[in-house]
Amino acid sequence: MQNEPMSLQIRLAEPSEYDEVGDLTVTGYLADDLLPPDSPYVSDLRAAKRRAEEAELWVAVDGGGILGTVTFCPPDSSYRELASDGDGEFRMLTVHPDARGRGIGAALVRRCLDRAREFGQSRVVISSAEQMRTAHRIYDRFGFERLPELDWKPAPDVQLLAFALELEPPETSVSGR
Ligand SMILES: CC(C)(COP(=O)(O)OP(=O)(O)OC[C@H]1O[C@@H](n2cnc3c(N)ncnc32)[C@H](O)[C@@H]1OP(=O)(O)O)[C@@H](O)C(=O)NCCC(=O)NCCS
Repeated sequence: MQNEPMSLQIRLAEPSEYDEVGDLTVTGYLADDLLPPDSPYVSDLRAAKRRAEEAELWVAVDGGGILGTVTFCPPDSSYRELASDGDGEFRMLTVHPDARGRGIGAALVRRCLDRAREFGQSRVVISSAEQMRTAHRIYDRFGFERLPELDWKPAPDVQLLAFALELEPPETSVSGR
């Protein structure tokens, strides 16, 4: 994986940034022809404000602005699709086409894994489309494995693949004398 830029910061999006994050998410998916511009999913990708309200909207920023985003779905989030009790889930990972290949996608995934651990979750599950090969390489590097029993179709013509990562249990601190 590439080294992320030194000045990169991963933080929750500010309300004033929601429109920009929505636009970035759409731009990132359309740049890779991951879906047709008239797909009904485009409006979901643009709905960053809703993601901030019903989940956690994270952004990657450096001095130059917002470069990437991911949505982490806490236990009570309406954005959870695959997660069962004890699972974390994230969605809509996107990096601006001009900022790719610098480790920003990996940094956003790492933040989601950290959030899952903070929620005490023991596994992270995600859905992804077959053609999202770059994302799959990142997931593979983190140790995600395919979980075909959770593959599903949100629409008759859309097949999603499931991946899961078992998280290490937190280290138990042994109090010494
Ligand atoms: C998937 C995505 C978020 C990755 O973002 P990223 O910041 O480029 O990710 P990273 O830099 O951490 O890793 C990208 C990989 O591509 C390689 N890469 C190198 N140059 C690249 C470039 N110009 N563009 C894209 N990838 C490049 C990186 O080396 C790395 O490969 P490696 O892990 O084998 O070293 C981004 O491609 C994207 O937004 N795709 C469209 C949306 C999408 O598919 N989302 C996934 C939803 S499940």
